[in-house]
Amino acid sequence: MVSTHPLGIQASGSQYLPQKLNNTTLSPNQELLPLSARVNRHDSLEIGGCDVTTLVEQFGSPLYILDEETLRTACRQYHDTFKQYYKDESQVLYASKAWNCLAICAIVASEGLGIDVVSGGELYTALNAGVTPDKIYLHGNNKSRDELVLAIESGCTIVADNWYELKILVELATNSSPVRIMLRLTPGIECHTHEYIRTGHLDSKFGFDPNDLDQVFGFVSKQPSLNCVGLHAHIGSQIFERQPHRDLAAVMVQWLRDAAKYNLELTELNVGGGLGIKYTESDDPPSIEEWSKAICEVVQQACAAENLPLPKLLCEPGRSLIATACVTAYSIGSAKVIPDLRTYVTIDGGMSDNPRPITYQSVYRSVVANKMSAALTETVTLAGKHCESGDILIKNAQLPKTEPGDILVVMGTGAYNYSMASNYNRLPRPAAVLVANGEANLILLRENYQDIIRQDCLPERLK
Ligand code: LLP
Repeated sequence: MVSTHPLGIQASGSQYLPQKLNNTTLSPNQELLPLSARVNRHDSLEIGGCDVTTLVEQFGSPLYILDEETLRTACRQYHDTFKQYYKDESQVLYASKAWNCLAICAIVASEGLGIDVVSGGELYTALNAGVTPDKIYLHGNNKSRDELVLAIESGCTIVADNWYELKILVELATNSSPVRIMLRLTPGIECHTHEYIRTGHLDSKFGFDPNDLDQVFGFVSKQPSLNCVGLHAHIGSQIFERQPHRDLAAVMVQWLRDAAKYNLELTELNVGGGLGIKYTESDDPPSIEEWSKAICEVVQQACAAENLPLPKLLCEPGRSLIATACVTAYSIGSAKVIPDLRTYVTIDGGMSDNPRPITYQSVYRSVVANKMSAALTETVTLAGKHCESGDILIKNAQLPKTEPGDILVVMGTGAYNYSMASNYNRLPRPAAVLVANGEANLILLRENYQDIIRQDCLPERLK
């Protein structure tokens, strides 16, 4: 019997294909599959003009498949909306913690975006991808001295997070070439998202307490070796509400006004990232344009009300730029049927390539790439291959009847999947390919067993 989709969607794999509404394409963050997704005449899923099953034959499984068109479209929507609605200078940064590698840094930079990095490793990658330091911002609540030195030498902007860091910066910086910094503040704004990915509430490890604002401004204004250019805040991730970011922008403009009392001429305001994406049919995030426009408007209104000049406006989305652009393809293997209870279908990856379900109870949708229009007759639990009962990728997935060798595609895996991937159980990390116009290019090599033992040391006496 064909089962009804739990969310009332008609049973057919192609329900997930990008929709056109009123002849306009939705924002990538409002789609489930990448924008270039099609079903071809073999009833197979095609992305970027490449048949997903053929990609798996060619590059192996599991495989991250990144659609260039979706990523570039999201970059352009952010970039163009800020240019259109903000009357002064603006800069969209890609929060590269979502997925940082050379190719992705190069693509977003070629669309005019800057990059937010949170470690020496991410900074090193961005620099090696050719991103210019004037468009790189380094975050982090415990940057090491080495990371700060690398940042100072490269000439990027450092988003100072706490007193400890400010003092190290004063030690490292010289008056002859002041270090360009911003100050991260905790805005005390609540938003409804998973506890682990909320950062803006007062009980957060990030940023200066706004109650210390006077002291911080007073201190920074007396440091000739620090060139403090602006303020930063970030309230959380996977946010669908609009009000928290409106409140944030308004609060930040008040802080800009307060800084003026200390003769600090702050000209940049960074409102962070956080716009959510559609992981399931019931998710309804605002579009990139709606989100960006709201921020531009609030900052402009608040500055007008305070009679302040408009700052350069920055934001730093991660997930909403990259999540929908990527799917992960797996090969289906064993199955276990527990009568009247559950059917487990196992794939050849799991919590090592996508740790989000086990970490945040995240919900994903999937299709069988080689059976796109087959009726969804089965309800199965998609299990990973790790030696851990909690390694479940999707509970109660609605699928057609599957066999070993079928290709399961999980959608929306571009953000915080590869970047949080591990070698748990010594599984090599999968490869990633970039697809566009029928061409596929490797952007991350699949790890092999030599890679797995590359960092191992066997002391002589154990040999
Ligand atoms: N800026 C800062 C300072 C951040 O901490 C973050 C994310 C962003 C920007 C980008 O936020 P986005 O636009 O991606 O929501 N691993 C979690 C997400 C952690 C987000 C950490 N910070 C997950 O998989 O859901």
